Amino acid sequence: MVGKIVGTGSYVPDTIWDNHKIAQFVETSDEWIRERTGIGKRHIAGVDTTVSMAIEAAKRAVENAITNGAIASGEEIDAIFVCAVAPEILLPAVACEVQKEVGAIHAFAYDMNAACSGFVFAYNQAVSFMNIGMIKTALIIGSEHLSRITDWTDRGSCILFGDGAGAVVVTAASGPLGMVMHSDGSGGAALVCSHDGKMKMDGQKVFRFAVKSVPECVEELMRQMKIKEEDVDYYVLHQANQRIIEAAAKRLKVSMDKIPMNIGEYGNTSSASIPILLDEMNRKGMLEGGKRIVMAGFGAGLSWGAGYVLTQ
Ligand code: ACO
Repeated sequence: MVGKIVGTGSYVPDTIWDNHKIAQFVETSDEWIRERTGIGKRHIAGVDTTVSMAIEAAKRAVENAITNGAIASGEEIDAIFVCAVAPEILLPAVACEVQKEVGAIHAFAYDMNAACSGFVFAYNQAVSFMNIGMIKTALIIGSEHLSRITDWTDRGSCILFGDGAGAVVVTAASGPLGMVMHSDGSGGAALVCSHDGKMKMDGQKVFRFAVKSVPECVEELMRQMKIKEEDVDYYVLHQANQRIIEAAAKRLKVSMDKIPMNIGEYGNTSSASIPILLDEMNRKGMLEGGKRIVMAGFGAGLSWGAGYVLTQ
């Protein structure tokens, strides 16, 4: 049993900060940021919150699943998982706020924090619940208000992050099962944020970790599932840095045609990056015709993992 994407949605705030805007408050340039990261701009939440962005993305994903004929209403959703690293509220869970807005009255709902690995970890968890017969349909959301924990005086990190939310409705389908999840707390100091503070990152350490861990966990997943490169239509990787994605492609010997990217538009939106990208692919028709997708995420913790998902 594996997950099948039947609906997607996303929401990003209207306010856009391009690299020139960032150069107004730290010593940097559009050229440096583009060359080192591939990022051109990012969306910044003004009145939006983790909850409001999650709700909007979730509503769009549920509507899409209804339009696709996969579900009749939100009442068919059995579980809601929200990944968020910086929610403004501690209680109730963001996922419960989403539940009441999408009419998912039968769902259980809770939040998870696995940083940028969040979406992949939450998806794998949903598939695990599917495989023990506990749920059939899950709504998985990444909603990140990273600008509120970004240190806007640190040019080594503030250039990277953006706000936004992505949501995916998945239903249980027959297909090969595979999942990979890892954590290494001993490396956690590379990216930290205290509850009332700002993110501090050792960019080079995270970079070295990412270029190794992303291809390794993809290879581990494919070995586990006994699938080959030709059995995968797309590799949807966490959008952290264009150079990390290109290095992973090289190591995996995969053409960039199979590795969609949108980091230029949004920056690193942590757990929201994969579902925002999936939603863009869906709206462009790229998910049509039963696609087979490997997803991989990595981030603070340290944490990293991969998952396998089908489309309608
Ligand atoms: N503009 C101009 N110069 C800069 C900037 C900037 N924004 N930032 C750093 N520099 C300078 C440095 O001071 C340094 O100068 P020096 O040589 O005079 O000392 C030089 O540029 C090189 O700095 P590096 O840190 O080596 O730059 P690097 O090529 O590693 O790029 C970056 C930095 C973009 C942060 C990169 O390390 C990276 O992307 N790392 C991964 C980060 C990441 O993905 N984090 C998210 C994790 S996911 C999650 O859980 C949220």
